Amino acid sequence: MAETPPFLIEDEIEADEELRLRHRYLDLRRPVMQRALRLRHKMIREIRGFLDARGFVEMETPILFKSTPEGARDFLVPSRLQPGSFYALPQSPQILKQLLMVAGFERYYQIARCFRDEDLRADRQLEFTQLDLEMSFVEREDVLALTEELLAHLWRECLGVEVAAPFPRLPYAECIRRFGTDHVDLRYGMELTDLEEVFAGTGLGIFRKVLGDGGAIRGIAVPRGGDLHHSHLKRLEQQAMERGANGLAWVLLRERGEVESPLEKHLSPSERARLARALGAGPGDAVLMVADRPAVANEVLGALRMQLARERGLAREGDWRFCWVVDYPFFGWNSAEDRWEPMHHPFTMPAGDPGALESDPGSVTALAYDIVLNGVELGSGSIRIHRADLQRRVFDALGISGERAQERFGFLLEAFRYGPPPHGGIAPGLDRMAALMVGADSIRDVIAFPKIQSGVDPLSGAPGRVDAAQLEELGLRLSRP
Ligand code: AMO
Repeated sequence: MAETPPFLIEDEIEADEELRLRHRYLDLRRPVMQRALRLRHKMIREIRGFLDARGFVEMETPILFKSTPEGARDFLVPSRLQPGSFYALPQSPQILKQLLMVAGFERYYQIARCFRDEDLRADRQLEFTQLDLEMSFVEREDVLALTEELLAHLWRECLGVEVAAPFPRLPYAECIRRFGTDHVDLRYGMELTDLEEVFAGTGLGIFRKVLGDGGAIRGIAVPRGGDLHHSHLKRLEQQAMERGANGLAWVLLRERGEVESPLEKHLSPSERARLARALGAGPGDAVLMVADRPAVANEVLGALRMQLARERGLAREGDWRFCWVVDYPFFGWNSAEDRWEPMHHPFTMPAGDPGALESDPGSVTALAYDIVLNGVELGSGSIRIHRADLQRRVFDALGISGERAQERFGFLLEAFRYGPPPHGGIAPGLDRMAALMVGADSIRDVIAFPKIQSGVDPLSGAPGRVDAAQLEELGLRLSRP
């Protein structure tokens, strides 16, 4: 016996996502969802087979643990047995897998659940799954080669596709220069171009001011973008401003050097010609420009590039363009808090002269790498520090006092006193990988019971209130009941 379901159980349904998630057991009956979750299962089975054949040992690590340093907010669990104390759910098994290297498990992996209390997005959930792996006595090349082989295996077995390895390797600085982001999408052009030379003698006040202040003028050419409507361009400008730009300049290129643009009067014939040449653009194309601080120009144009490619169907389905991003700066400057923070995590091995940790932190690069596929960061990893003295210097450079380091990571520093092997690893996100494989827009479509943006699970209503007696037992009192 069955009641009439609240929505039609077929692939092309219009039902609201919240309603579908409230009745997820019905939603999951749809063939697309069945296919997606069965593919996820196959992917995990293939990962296990592949790593098992290469001597990896699958190990579980605690969920009730101590704060781990992946830079997000922790989920805390109050302890009943130790009143006033809390466990933190692991943001990743990072420290634990490093301890397993000290313990002599030279090749470890885990299909690991991770927890991060951050704002949800299409590619972010509060809890998600990583393929977490770590190896002893390896260098960067070993980790990259193993990962490439694994990904090629998964694409072959799960999708019947041969992907070309080795994957291109792009230094971080080059990614920012060409794509405005390290979430590189190599499926289409529209690369960012410096336009300072084109506008060196410009009469346009705002451009002159930005150049005078040491800012950047950068642009992209949208192929056949000459058909972009003014209302659409306004919308793009609005989005650019939401990302912190002062505006978005656009130029539609017409025949015979004619242009249509709010800047038309200010563009000399020679500037028009040089602009088109610099961007490799021609009649019928559109040019979008941002004059601002370099970081703002890059971020805004990088995001516009990806959005326009999506809107205009520039990326071909079934075009799998993996790449590695390498040579990351070790530190990023947190201007809100006036301090350095690690671009990856503080256990990453610095490259080159370690003296620069003290003298010039901004110049230090990291032996870290990200694997990126079609504009999505699939995973990241690094070669790790395996010497307590170097680890302490990195903590110092990060402004983590000896006392605080001891309190948070003392158990790792202590383990490093007992002959830790050199080691390194990586952690691809399985939700993102499965979503890309099935062509889903959101990782929610490859997770059986995901949460919506507000962090709520519409099926059970979690998170929910608890009994006063439970709070009492834990020694907790709510300040906002
Ligand atoms: P990182 O923090 O970069 O590295 O995470 C690795 C990968 O995990 C996935 N991921 C997420 N997926 C869904 N929702 C989230 N909120 C979320 N956060 C991260 C991404 C990401 O690339 N311990 C290091 C790895 C290492 O150095 O070995 C780590 O966790 O796919």
